[in-house]
Amino acid sequence: TSLKDAFKDDFLIGTAMSDFQAAGRDEKALELIKQHFNSITPENLMKAERLMTGWKQYDFSLADKMVAFAQENNIKINGHTFIWHSQMPAFMRGIRNPDSVRAYFEDIIQTVGSRYDGKVDSWDVVNEALNEDGTLRQSTFLRALGEDYIVEAFRLAQKATPNSKLYYNDYNIEQPKKRAGAIAIIKKIQEAGVRIDGVGIQGHWHLGKVPFKDIEESIKEFSALGIKVMFTELDISVLPSPWDNTSAEVSLHAAENPKMNPYVNGLPDSVSQQLAKDYEELFKLFLKYKDHISRITFWGVNDGQSWLNGWPIRGRTNYPLLFDRQYQPKAAYYSIMALK
Ligand code: XIL
Repeated sequence: TSLKDAFKDDFLIGTAMSDFQAAGRDEKALELIKQHFNSITPENLMKAERLMTGWKQYDFSLADKMVAFAQENNIKINGHTFIWHSQMPAFMRGIRNPDSVRAYFEDIIQTVGSRYDGKVDSWDVVNEALNEDGTLRQSTFLRALGEDYIVEAFRLAQKATPNSKLYYNDYNIEQPKKRAGAIAIIKKIQEAGVRIDGVGIQGHWHLGKVPFKDIEESIKEFSALGIKVMFTELDISVLPSPWDNTSAEVSLHAAENPKMNPYVNGLPDSVSQQLAKDYEELFKLFLKYKDHISRITFWGVNDGQSWLNGWPIRGRTNYPLLFDRQYQPKAAYYSIMALK
């Protein structure tokens, strides 16, 4: 049995794929991907910083390798991502001139979109354009192109890759204020007569604090716009967040501090059970709304390679996923499989 088979009538089950895995160097992870997942989002390798080697110059070798792996194994790819303020190529640093920004903006969507049309099932066209209060985030794109840049990105993507589904992706958009900002973006795209097929709620949550009510409300409100809802970067950190901890005695950037990094020698069973419970409740909710949800993607295959070991504090030991450091299924895996 496997995740993808268990949920085959409900939604796609995806994972992020690291550069290391795409290069074929993590065989145990590749086996798990083939067994359990029918969708891949490249964790980094389709970001502009990685694809672009210079002005209008690209290196597609690793991306092509990943696409071939996915095709051989009948796995869909969600491209991630055309327009994002972060992980932009070094040559764009400090570029403010609107003509240059526009040229970059058009080139990446046109070049990458058309290259993978028919091969990449969907794209996160724009990633993380919002502030927490629902206003548009200050960025290279907003400054140079004005607030219509989001509609423009979707318009260009629709042209470049007519066969891909087109998504807006962001974190915390289950929170009411930021959600309202996302709804405004989606409506603006729709009112311009441009296609948007879905919205991705990233889903980087914390143990015991998963915002179930806001998530449920978001699924209802987003799907009422006639688009699909996805959970695109799901993980549940079991470690304290530095932002929850204002106490001066707790150094914010100290993996050496046992308060901030308590489970270096293994996860206590009580925590493991709480994680299983959080995942179980989440998947109950996802199943309740399966008609509106098209994909659940975990942000990584197993705990050992999760980005949450290195963010927002470097060098911690986190346990946010369904498979452990030995590539074995955890209690959280069994808790969601038991729902089927
Ligand atoms: C993260 C990757 O997981 C890391 O390896 C990388 O160093 C930084 O980016 N939101 C996103 C993802 O949309 O692209 C981010 O991925 C995590 C937050």
